[in-house]
Amino acid sequence: MLSEKMQQALNQQINEEFCSAFIYLGMSAEADRIGLPGFSNWFRMQYQEELSHADRFFNYILERNGSVELLTIGKPELTEETPLSLFEKSLKHEQHITVCISRLKDLARSESDHATDVFLEWFVSEQVEEEANAQNVIDQLRLVGDNANGLFLIDRELATRTATPAE
Ligand SMILES: [Fe+2]
Ligand SMILES: [Fe+2]
Repeated sequence: MLSEKMQQALNQQINEEFCSAFIYLGMSAEADRIGLPGFSNWFRMQYQEELSHADRFFNYILERNGSVELLTIGKPELTEETPLSLFEKSLKHEQHITVCISRLKDLARSESDHATDVFLEWFVSEQVEEEANAQNVIDQLRLVGDNANGLFLIDRELATRTATPAE
């Protein structure tokens, strides 16, 4: 059985994942506004991935016979974004999520909740990937600078991202 504290923390993480999804959906719209359909596609896929993360926590709480509580999702703060600022915000956000996952893991360990500890392993690895993905695009954007051809090529590459099938 989940402790009250663990259940609350997992519910908080469902909310974090929905907030992530909402931020990426906003970023998708921003990228489209800038005129970068590939970037827009990438963020849209990321939005779907975050929804699947929320699903994982949702399913896990129910599987442990806990109670799900859905919390308020805030408005994403996005104004006058550039391709670089969008990915810098992505990276910053993912670093925040990594801290959330680490805290959850610390809590699971402090409570000797081995099932939750094991469940969170997937997210630990996922966060390494999430930060690396954002960092890779930042590196590419810094490399091309103001070069429109370079930006066009990155956009074309980001256009190829498809949704990862749910496991
Ligand atoms: Fe996530
Ligand atoms: Fe993420």
